[in-house]
Amino acid sequence: MKFDVCIFVPKEQPYNRGMASVLQCDTKRKAKKTMDFEIPRRFFGRNECCIMEKLIIQGRRRLVGEVTISGAKNAAVAVIPAAIMAEGTSTLENLPAIEDVRSLCHTIEKLGGICTYTDEHTLKIDCSNGTKHCATFEEVQKIRASYYFLGALLGRYKKAEVALPGGCNFGVRPIDLHLKGFRALGATVEECDGMVRAYAERLIGTSIYMDQVSVGATINIMLAACMAEGITTIENAAKEPHVVDTANYLNMMGANIKGAGTDVIRIYGVEKLHGAQYTIIPDQIEAGTYMIAAAITGGDVLVRNIIPKHMDSLSAKLDEMNVTIEEHDDSIRVTANKPLQCANVKTMSYPGFPTDLQPQIAALLGVCKGKSVITENVWENRYQYMDELRKLGAQVEIDGRQAWITGIPHFVGSCVCATDLRAGAAMILAGLAAEGETIIENVKYIDRGYENVEHKFNALGADITRVDE
Ligand code: EPZ
Repeated sequence: MKFDVCIFVPKEQPYNRGMASVLQCDTKRKAKKTMDFEIPRRFFGRNECCIMEKLIIQGRRRLVGEVTISGAKNAAVAVIPAAIMAEGTSTLENLPAIEDVRSLCHTIEKLGGICTYTDEHTLKIDCSNGTKHCATFEEVQKIRASYYFLGALLGRYKKAEVALPGGCNFGVRPIDLHLKGFRALGATVEECDGMVRAYAERLIGTSIYMDQVSVGATINIMLAACMAEGITTIENAAKEPHVVDTANYLNMMGANIKGAGTDVIRIYGVEKLHGAQYTIIPDQIEAGTYMIAAAITGGDVLVRNIIPKHMDSLSAKLDEMNVTIEEHDDSIRVTANKPLQCANVKTMSYPGFPTDLQPQIAALLGVCKGKSVITENVWENRYQYMDELRKLGAQVEIDGRQAWITGIPHFVGSCVCATDLRAGAAMILAGLAAEGETIIENVKYIDRGYENVEHKFNALGADITRVDE
């Protein structure tokens, strides 16, 4: 019998995740899986290769010193797609040097735009000659925020075709509210073979009430609506700092958006947008991660280049837990020299406690005196990482959206996996506080959102080494 041999990478995981299978097909094209194997590094190009790196942490070192926070990932991933709406060149400053930003540049270049880095954190994006309106799976699979290309392309060209999002995996992540918003603006929206297609003769401003506060839907509707005819009102809008940052950038490009940062955003449609120079805000979640790192190691850290107001919910919680917080104009000093107390944390949209700091605070609560409760109100299923935390000794019981954590004196090092970006950050924090050695696998998730992660921690006195498997 004649066989064709082909390599099959499971559809449900990105092709660079590391595992693949050999399929043998007979002449009737019936396939039989014959073996699983790990994809070798050289299989892919440098930025797409399967680098199975690990972080090795020698724990129980007190963090002391200063750390400078990078630009906000979740603002950058909205602002970069927004840049393709301009008939001209935008210069974006203070971009974080992270995988998600590099992936978005790659997508823009595939669409026909020109991306030029003038330094590690400054990017010029030139889409003055127009771009394609279609971004396929191959181009966008790694980043969930690829959905912002839908709003941006629909706004500029009145047509967009974009593959459904990739990115962090923690359960169902619908985009129905985004699509509902596009339809309300007059677009026809179809979903087929993993692609979303939206098109319209004209986009007409309207009033949109969001059933649920959604950062992505608020930004995406804002993108499309700023080049619609007339006025669009978004009620029950998300108020996150990166919603405001995206609106500010669009306004610099000639859009007319009022009320970003409040429940009601009004967008007065304009015909054209032009390029602009814009500086991305500091990353609230990266800042929060280092603040919690100071607390969990009994450290003394000045977290620099931040907007202290964005940290209010975390600062209040740390204060309640016995951590000393000292606010300055653009920095916060975190000192932990008293026994840490348990606390109850409820995640909520901004200005509530951010869900993106939930895994990190869980690591801290794991070594605080007493029993703490976390209630996850944003995502249905964001406790997958708890099994990893348990490997380090955490005492956790989960019931639906609530997690009860009974504090232990300290974690004990083990081998754990970063199940997603923020879960990976939580593993670092737990490893810093663990007795002995902690090995973190699947580091590529962490690299998606944290710039120079081990260097920043090591500069504070941590002992983290990156090794290639
Ligand atoms: C953004 O995701 C962030 N990502 C997430 O950060 C963050 O966890 C989340 O907001 C909440 O703050 C980016 O900004 C790129 P949502 P987004 O739409 O916009 C439901 C990280 O680690 N919903 O605000 O996708 C949804 O299921 C990432 O940096 C719908 O039902 O989140 C969730 O329960 C992870 N239908 C809630 O709304 C929709 O169409 C909030 O989601 C959209 C959302």
